[in-house]
Amino acid sequence: MNRADIVALDKRHVWHPYTAMEAYIAETDPLVVVRAEGPYLHDADGRRYLDANGSWWVSTLGHRHPRLVHALVQQAQEMPHVSLAGVTHAPAALLARELAAIAPGAEREDLPAEEKLGRVFYSDDGSTAVEVAIKMAAQHWAQNGRPKRTRFITLSGAFHGETVGATSVGGVPLFREVFGPLLFDVVHVPSPAEEGGWERAFAEVERALAAHPDEVAAVIVEPVLQGAAGMQLYAPDFLRAVREATRRVDTFLIADEVFTGLGRTGARFACDLAGVVPDMLCLAKALSGGLLPFAATLATERVFAGFLGGGERALYYGHSYCGNPLGAAVAREVLAIYRDEDVLGQVARKAPRIAAAFQRMADTLPGLTRPRALGMVGAVDLGGGGYLARSGWRVYEAARRRGLYLRPLGDTVYIAPALNLPDDTLDALLAGVEESVREVVRGR
Ligand SMILES: Cc1ncc(COP(=O)(O)O)c(C=O)c1O
Repeated sequence: MNRADIVALDKRHVWHPYTAMEAYIAETDPLVVVRAEGPYLHDADGRRYLDANGSWWVSTLGHRHPRLVHALVQQAQEMPHVSLAGVTHAPAALLARELAAIAPGAEREDLPAEEKLGRVFYSDDGSTAVEVAIKMAAQHWAQNGRPKRTRFITLSGAFHGETVGATSVGGVPLFREVFGPLLFDVVHVPSPAEEGGWERAFAEVERALAAHPDEVAAVIVEPVLQGAAGMQLYAPDFLRAVREATRRVDTFLIADEVFTGLGRTGARFACDLAGVVPDMLCLAKALSGGLLPFAATLATERVFAGFLGGGERALYYGHSYCGNPLGAAVAREVLAIYRDEDVLGQVARKAPRIAAAFQRMADTLPGLTRPRALGMVGAVDLGGGGYLARSGWRVYEAARRRGLYLRPLGDTVYIAPALNLPDDTLDALLAGVEESVREVVRGR
């Protein structure tokens, strides 16, 4: 099938995510990717593109890592799927043990056993990992003597996924407004990344907890880095303060590490940057290395204990593909590659180059603001126009001509590439971003 045929079929039938389809059908010349390998996407015209965002932040070990492909094929030959309903299997059991062993706080001897993230509930993707946490928190309180605890405190700018529950705890107005009548009520507090600092946001969290001490089911956060909000960074102190405040009123902290988990920020988990152990921790994206959708919600022994007892106390939740053996086998191999290839060590070596490059861009090019970087993320703003602004898209076009796939977030230009990108490839990526931004700001 040639490129034109694929595009024609696509434009006739495929409805793309987060895409204004009328303009897409009329104007967009999409990338037609035929192969993906390592940090590169290869298109139907034989051109190669450096994938600057790991294909929506999932391919943290590059595309088609041979060990992941091998693990997938091997598992597929034995048992591609079986439900977790009254059934279990080695990949799910082994992965749960491995996740519990690396979870925040796992190695802390001072931490009481009930506060360890020792239980793993599997689901399909980042949105469902969050949905699981929401329901876990609500049901836990409902059946453990705190039935009024149904409200969630969430941060302005938060993004937690696409389901109605995950959208309800989201804080990006554009993604919420149209669904407003369907969403449950939450308490929004300012983002700790906003001007005014984390202390202002924390004061609002404290105020909300004080106002509704027996109504708050949980505070939910993207720890340290709000991705979809435009790569907004905030101080780990905020996370520590929120952890202490939630402990004071004895409510839950949910850490959504769907984006930040497994090395993106330089630490194994962003919670580790603050030394914080949440009550629930959501993982997806990097967990299955870009091979297939797979997610896990880790919960403490205490949360889990709240579901023990009769049948009516069970968590009534479970997707068809919950704990899918293919996903679990690939996730185990992802964790093995992190160990064997010292992925966190690689990030530590590369992170300063990213930070320096974004700082240099802001220092040398007019109109750029707020250069920021953490781990394998670098970002800078080309204006203050928000998600629908177009400057980032002009950089996208300029980058595409240079062989980079650089999807922006409105006016925010960012990179979140594979964590194991070779040094020279990272340098080429950073140079390409800089040239593309320069072309756009000079042409203004
Ligand atoms: C922090 C966070 N949570 C949840 C999600 C939703 O994940 P998924 O798209 O896999 O449903 C995302 C997706 O970008 C995310 O960044």
